[in-house]
Amino acid sequence: MPPSEPDRTDLEPAFDLFLPDPDATARLGAALGLALTAGDVVALTGDLGAGKSALSRAAIRARLGDPEAEVPSPTFTLVQTYETDDLEIWHVDLYRLDGRADAVELGLDEAFAEAASLIEWPDRLGPDLPRRALRIDIVHDGDGRRARIAAPAEWRNRIEEVLRDAA
Ligand SMILES: Nc1ncnc2c1ncn2[C@@H]1O[C@H](COP(=O)(O)OP(=O)(O)OP(=O)(O)O)[C@@H](O)[C@H]1O
Ligand SMILES: [Mg+2]
Repeated sequence: MPPSEPDRTDLEPAFDLFLPDPDATARLGAALGLALTAGDVVALTGDLGAGKSALSRAAIRARLGDPEAEVPSPTFTLVQTYETDDLEIWHVDLYRLDGRADAVELGLDEAFAEAASLIEWPDRLGPDLPRRALRIDIVHDGDGRRARIAAPAEWRNRIEEVLRDAA
């Protein structure tokens, strides 16, 4: 019997960050937003109300350099796009996605190639989620949240910097 493929998460450093309040979530989001480059995919998991949109909003506002920028949740539109000086950002919420064919229709392949993508409910994509995605899972922890971050090779150096900046 061939040895089973090790779970990919075993191969990646996982970071664990307590976020005591919404400001802490926003700091992590802002640091992440400033670190994004074209082709990045960030997979944001966590229950309804965990803070996936809050983190994305902070990332987009930081990258736009506008702390007041309107960043609506893409719950109903599925996709909101933003043009920053040097990067297009796609903020995507796949909760209402019906099937994987819809993901193609949304133009996600192009976004994965050319933009930076922040994806809520990325499990809807199944194997179509790029393997290089940075994964951030947000869980409730008392009155706050905890972010569990799994970073593939592309992110290993950057994520430590992001966490330093968010502290
Ligand atoms: N670290 C934190 N501690 C406590 N509350 C927080 C923290 N971070 C964010 N919140 C709050 O949690 C809520 C998160 O809502 P948000 O819409 O971002 O959730 P979501 O994960 O995107 O949910 P959905 O799956 O419905 O899209 C907001 O009310 C926000 O103020
Ligand atoms: Mg959301």
